[in-house]
Amino acid sequence: MVQLHTRARTGKFISIYLESLKLDSILNFDLYVKLDGQLVLFRSAELPFTERTKLKLIDKGVNILYIDGSSRSEFQRYLETNLPEILADPDIPQLRKAGILYETSKSLIEDVFSNPTYGENIRRSEKLVNSTISYLLQGRDAFLNLLRITSYNYSIYSHSVNVCAYSLALGQRLGVTSEKMQHELGIGALLHDVGKSRVSERILNKSGVLSPREFEIMKRHPRWGVEILRETSQIPEISYLPVLEHHEREGGTGYPDSIGLQEMHLYSKIVAIVDCFDAMTTQRVYQNAMESFAVLRVMNTKKNGFDLDVLREFIILLGPDEMIHESTTDIF
Ligand SMILES: [Fe+2]
Ligand SMILES: [Fe+2]
Repeated sequence: MVQLHTRARTGKFISIYLESLKLDSILNFDLYVKLDGQLVLFRSAELPFTERTKLKLIDKGVNILYIDGSSRSEFQRYLETNLPEILADPDIPQLRKAGILYETSKSLIEDVFSNPTYGENIRRSEKLVNSTISYLLQGRDAFLNLLRITSYNYSIYSHSVNVCAYSLALGQRLGVTSEKMQHELGIGALLHDVGKSRVSERILNKSGVLSPREFEIMKRHPRWGVEILRETSQIPEISYLPVLEHHEREGGTGYPDSIGLQEMHLYSKIVAIVDCFDAMTTQRVYQNAMESFAVLRVMNTKKNGFDLDVLREFIILLGPDEMIHESTTDIF
């Protein structure tokens, strides 16, 4: 029988997947289960999580557990440490792996945005990019599974994770295949908008058109991003390029330096395309998401200033039947 302890008191609880827990480890957070609509303590932090414990839960049909909101950062660190193992575990379904990877990434990016010049956060991001690369190397199905769980409600965090995943998958089609290059592209893509951490929430979430003054501030985020990253000097110099250049366009119509495609690095051309695609296909407070194909059609015209060869590869990557929007739940 599952041993039930004291009733959970108050506080906000976070749901987690059973698969995200590693066997025979002492967890540094309490685990709760839902029983008749009530959350009850199932296992306190100091007890090891064993195969038997897991089987008991499976036996009861439990695959979702809960942790207290105050343990969120402990759980986040636990996940980041165990992520390589979770992703390599053949017993965990790929879609579940995609969900765990996605939610771990989103929470990490939240930490990065709240303290972007903290070197430790950038180091954590680098490790996470490596996990994302090894996940995506499992093949096209892995990418499609990640695509299925991406959030279609826009937040700067999910946007950063989406842009990283799309960029890595697109990069693979364009010769970005060595471990070194994938890492350079992945970390640049994940942190491409980190400069927005200096833009006020009011401007970032404004539902109407930005005033010229507000737009001028917004246009500073690529440079601010590079400044922030230079402060920590954790990532390769070449990864600064997609951060700086992802809003540049052909004919010098972009910002901040109005350079054209010829001067843009391949990483920047990739991030420019997936950044625009993700922004247009996800729902923001003030904008309804457009259909993926409509977006690609709009993007695929010369006047939008993207590299059309790179864009063509992106269209092939997404394929006709893979752009299925499925809602995602807030779960680890
Ligand atoms: Fe941006
Ligand atoms: Fe962006």
